[in-house]
Amino acid sequence: MRKRKLKKKNIFIAFLLLIILIFLIIFIINHLPKDNKKETSVFKTEQNKWEKYKYYLKNNQKRYEVYFSTHPEADLNDVIAIVNVNADKEAYKESNEANLQKGQEILVNKYHSLAENYTPKSMVEMDKKYAYEGRKALPEVNEAFKKMYEDALKENIEMYVVSAFRSYTYQGQLYTNYITTYGEKYANTVSARPGYSEHQTGLALDILSDSVEMKDFESTKAFAWLKENSYKYGFILRYPKDKEYLTGYAYEPWHYRYLGKELAKKVWEENITYDEYYAYYLDN
Ligand code: DAL
Ligand code: ZN
Repeated sequence: MRKRKLKKKNIFIAFLLLIILIFLIIFIINHLPKDNKKETSVFKTEQNKWEKYKYYLKNNQKRYEVYFSTHPEADLNDVIAIVNVNADKEAYKESNEANLQKGQEILVNKYHSLAENYTPKSMVEMDKKYAYEGRKALPEVNEAFKKMYEDALKENIEMYVVSAFRSYTYQGQLYTNYITTYGEKYANTVSARPGYSEHQTGLALDILSDSVEMKDFESTKAFAWLKENSYKYGFILRYPKDKEYLTGYAYEPWHYRYLGKELAKKVWEENITYDEYYAYYLDN
């Protein structure tokens, strides 16, 4: 009888100790340093929110958050693209020098500029058969265009180069003319300031066809052909439709940028602007 009482007492004490232990654990959890806990969890949620998007760049995390806080209605994919191409910054003012080491992969835009005295190392004059007189480009650009022109011609599609390399000074004259005619705001959407045009690299070509004006080029057979085939020769459409918020320029169906066959194919397949592609894959 006494033994049974003792056993009951032991069970009671063990139970009591268990309850105390549980309370102790709850107490400790609740009194863990609060700031640490909070920081870790907020950081984690924010990271996850952006991380799942394809073009997420860890270094830009803070800027995504800042941009989104002032544009809460924006699509998160757009926020990522805008920040990646620096369009959350002030054009021209917050720009750096373009990385010349990149060779034909170079990015020149409103955030990556060329020096006044920059001219491509070697250039050739393009044949009058397929270019306006005196148009110059890098030799590889000329070769690639020639091949593209010949292949298109076999399908009865005619095209010619109206603008190729443009010096800093000449770009300045064009830009000033646009400002005089249309005002600065509009000029900035159709023309690069001197030092910010990829025409200065010798890697860009403006292509037209059928003696049409630039505004009508989109409806030509040549444009339809270029849209599908130009990447096979190393060229990409540089300022696509509805991408002004990323490229900084209105749609230019006539402006092609030479990247070499391999890179042009990758950019074409990815179906994003070169500004986005460069930021994600090449800017290191
Ligand atoms: N029209 C293009 C953007 C240029 O001026 O280079
Ligand atoms: Zn152009």
